[in-house]
This record gives sequence, structure tokens and C-alpha cells, in this order.
Amino acid sequence: MRIGIIGAGHIGSTLAGHLAGIGHDVALANSRDPSTLKDVVAGIDGPVSAVDAAQAARFGQVVVVSVPFGRIYDLPTAELRDKVVVDTCNYYPERDGDDAELDTDTTTSSEKLRDLTDADLVKAFNAVHWETLRDGGRPKGSPERIAIPLSGDDEEAKAVVSGLIRDMGFDPVDAGYLGGGGRRHQPGTPVYGSELSAHDMERWLHVT
Ligand SMILES: NC(=O)c1ccc[n+]([C@@H]2O[C@H](COP(=O)([O-])OP(=O)(O)OC[C@H]3O[C@@H](n4cnc5c(N)ncnc54)[C@H](OP(=O)(O)O)[C@@H]3O)[C@@H](O)[C@H]2O)c1
Repeated sequence: MRIGIIGAGHIGSTLAGHLAGIGHDVALANSRDPSTLKDVVAGIDGPVSAVDAAQAARFGQVVVVSVPFGRIYDLPTAELRDKVVVDTCNYYPERDGDDAELDTDTTTSSEKLRDLTDADLVKAFNAVHWETLRDGGRPKGSPERIAIPLSGDDEEAKAVVSGLIRDMGFDPVDAGYLGGGGRRHQPGTPVYGSELSAHDMERWLHVT
């Protein structure tokens, strides 16, 4: 599959390594000239190229957005329209600036990105620490296999992202729709930053 990744930091570059490592064609972008990603790309064993954000968005059949939430307004939104977009972003006011709607829980960060892009948005990888994502993958059936929660309104898009999660060595657990489900794996929830099995993830996602 062709996968664009916008944001080449802890999460974006870790996902690029995993996805290229299992044979996907990856185009990776940060906010600067693609030449600044030379070392990141050289450290990945698999088909990955450095591009700009608009190119990554156009390239991907699936496009991962992994930037500080406050930077979503700089994204190439037209190129993301109707794509399957994976949103790893979290809202931290001290980093991203205050957002009154998020502070009052009128909406969620993922719904804001969905509204900005008109994409088939799947919130995933937001609740896993990048080092767990880098090192925590285990074969299917391993008792140590960790769950990754995801949410979204488009079942087909969620199925695609669930497959990618499985292929990276984690168990996807569907938390529900983007709004209600996404709220169950935001910062501050019991599952955020957890390393739970799928069984325990299912239980804790529904503890309010
Ligand atoms: N760190 C974690 O363990 C973790 C876990 C789960 C979720 N998250 C969330 O996932 C997101 C990314 O986290 P991170 O830790 O990977 O961040 P990070 O290490 O700070 O990297 C952020 C990346 O986003 C890029 N970026 C910023 N604005 C951009 C734009 N307009 N276009 C293209 N690229 C842009 C940056 O590029 P430049 O270097 O060029 O600025 C950088 O490559 C955040 O929302 C974070 O809250 C983080």
C-alpha cells in the first residue's frame, strides 16, 4: 500500500520504519525541506522517500497525520479530502495554544481535523507512547501483545487501519465512533499511554 506520513517526529518516523519494514511504500514529510529528512530516511530499512507534506498527502492511499495538534491548520487540507487519514495527534494546550471548544469538550481534536479535511478519519496511535510503538510489537497470539485503540465513523477505513496495526504486531481495539469513541482514548483517559492486552483494553475503554 502507498502510505503518506505527515510529521516525521517520534511517532511519524517510528510508523515510517514499521510500515516500510513490512513492505509498504512510504512517503515521509516534515514541515521543512525534504532534504532535512536525509538521516531519518537513511535509518529506515525499506521503501521510504522524503517529500513535502502536500506530496505525502497526494501519494498516500492512507495518510498519517502526526504533528502537534496546533499545527493542523498548516496542513495541505485539500489534498487530504476523501482520503483515509490516520490521526495520531493529541491536544495539549500548553504546547498547542488554548482551544476553547476543546477546553469545554464541545468537540474533539480528531473531529476538528476531520472537519478541516473532509477525510475518512481514523484516530489511532494517539494513545501509545512512541517507544512502546517502536519496541512493543509482538506476534499474534503472544501473551505480551499490546492493544492499540482506534475510533472513526467509516468502518472500511477502520478496517484498513486495523490491518496495519495488526501487521505491526499490535491488537487493534475499536473504541467506537470518532466523537464518542475518540473521547475514550484521549489524554487523561484510563487507557491513554497504557500497555494493556486487547481484553483489558476492551474493559477499560468503557470505564467512564
Ligand atoms: N511522542 C509520543 O509518544 C506520542 C504518542 C502518541 C501521540 N503523540 C501525538 O502525535 C503527534 C506527534 O507527536 P511526536 O511526539 O511524533 O511529535 P514530534 O516528535 O515533536 O514531531 C512532530 C513532527 O511534526 C512535524 N510538523 C509540524 N508541523 C508540520 C506541518 N505543518 N507539516 C508537516 N510536518 C509538520 C515536525 O516537523 P519539523 O521538525 O519540520 O517541525 C515533526 O517532524 C502529536 O500530536 C503528539 O501529541 C505523541
